[in-house]
Amino acid sequence: MDVKDAIKSRFSVRKYLNKPVEKKLIYKILDIARFSPSGHNMQPWEVAIVTGKTKDELSKRLMDDFNSRKARNYDYNYAIRNIPAFINDRRKACNAKIFKHKHIDPIADKEALHEHIMENFKFFGAPVELFFLREKHLGEGTLIDIGIFAQSVMLAAWELGLGSCPQASIAAYPDTIRNTLKLPDNKIVLFGIALGYPDLENYINKLRMDRDAVDAFSTFYD
Ligand SMILES: Cc1cc2nc3c(=O)[nH]c(=O)nc-3n(C[C@H](O)[C@H](O)[C@H](O)COP(=O)(O)O)c2cc1C
Repeated sequence: MDVKDAIKSRFSVRKYLNKPVEKKLIYKILDIARFSPSGHNMQPWEVAIVTGKTKDELSKRLMDDFNSRKARNYDYNYAIRNIPAFINDRRKACNAKIFKHKHIDPIADKEALHEHIMENFKFFGAPVELFFLREKHLGEGTLIDIGIFAQSVMLAAWELGLGSCPQASIAAYPDTIRNTLKLPDNKIVLFGIALGYPDLENYINKLRMDRDAVDAFSTFYD
């Protein structure tokens, strides 16, 4: 698989085989991704690799948070209010496509919507959840570095036969993550990536998202 094919064929995997991922393989993926670029080579990424009983416990606690209507309390601003219409249209199209694919009417079928949301906190059944952390007192620019690193992780995983799904949703309750993993207060939680062998036969993994054409986002200045 070359880089071009990896970028174009990767997709968010939302169902995994019940098959553990060897620690060695996770290590190998991170050992590739660490060559990602970062401003001043600061390499601000930190990764908590969560599996087994710790993953199950964390999953349960995050579901409890959601079900007890605990207020979402991100460590950073991922606001979706007051965003320009053309961006909001893409966000709405994404949600609509997922719900259509899953035959869920999010207004009428509250139970199905709830189950859909829970899937995030169950990490889509992945055997591994990676939590992307960062030192609290760093500039916003370091989020660029960590985003680039995350794509490297997902592409390396894909080449090595593993699927992934980035998840900002799980970062809504960072205190729960810090408490469960016994992280110090100076670590912020940015997002997760579910990781595992993809269940390619499952209908949810047949979903492919659209992308705008180059002309929609780029301008040449001669
Ligand atoms: C930073 C980030 C956060 C995301 N958070 C979630 C999430 O919480 N739940 C989810 O199902 N997908 C999440 N996604 C996946 C996006 O919905 C997905 O990348 C997008 O729709 C494009 O589809 P594709 O990844 O299949 O190409 C996230 C993606 C990114 C990059």
